[in-house]
Amino acid sequence: MTEKLIQKFLDSYDSGIVEIKLRDLLHLKEKVSTDPHIQTLFPPTEIGSITLVDQIVILCLLKILKPSVILEIGTYLGYTTSLLAINTSAAKILSIDLPNDHNSRTLNIDETQILVDPEVNDNFLRHKQANEGEKYLEYLGDSDKAKIKLIKNDSTELDFPTEIGTIDFAFIDGGHTEEIVASDTKGVFSCMKKGVIVWHDYKSGIHSGVTKYLQKQSSLKIFHVKNSLCAFSIIGF
Ligand SMILES: C[S@@+](CC[C@H](N)C(=O)[O-])C[C@H]1O[C@@H](n2cnc3c(N)ncnc32)[C@H](O)[C@@H]1O
Repeated sequence: MTEKLIQKFLDSYDSGIVEIKLRDLLHLKEKVSTDPHIQTLFPPTEIGSITLVDQIVILCLLKILKPSVILEIGTYLGYTTSLLAINTSAAKILSIDLPNDHNSRTLNIDETQILVDPEVNDNFLRHKQANEGEKYLEYLGDSDKAKIKLIKNDSTELDFPTEIGTIDFAFIDGGHTEEIVASDTKGVFSCMKKGVIVWHDYKSGIHSGVTKYLQKQSSLKIFHVKNSLCAFSIIGF
């Protein structure tokens, strides 16, 4: 039944990047699951995490796809990792971020350029991750913490099939250059036959890498939820 609903949803849109309203996704969620409950945390105030609209997009997709193994690229402070953990019965949530000794962490950050220059922004996020760690995970209960496995590795150097295995939900939010987004997406595809890929920072005012990369993926049907930074593609249906 769920499969048919997802198929029908996908069939009602043309290929390429499709702009949808949050309401369109909520309608599909309502058809698949009448459970109106979600759990959330107040939106983070830190630069570099997700907005309230992004949260609802991710939670809709969780309820629709009911994944078993989730991969996040870019743990940062663990906010989205926590959100995923408290809203899913998935057996495993894998979250990748750089090792603590990564060289970008010792770079000097020009504070005036954090919201202007994409490279400075990415290095600021790497730096903050190194200094503050996955602080949002501290609020989780033991059973939610037990679902999470943190992988400390440069995602562009990771052997995805060996280190990650099979996944059915991916949230790509690591480095934002077009090259890193392409590499992370390739890694995700090597682990996913069926599921959903969510890219964060599509149409971002700072980063153009995700937008440029997705605009070249003409063989994929990609949905951008208006007023969010999330674009997603449902694979294998
Ligand atoms: C935008 S933040 C992630 C935000 C997080 N997903 C959230 O919603 O709260 C980006 C993170 O990606 C990490 N990152 C950047 N380049 C990376 C790479 N090549 N491999 C792994 N992680 C990377 C940074 O250290 C940073 O913590």
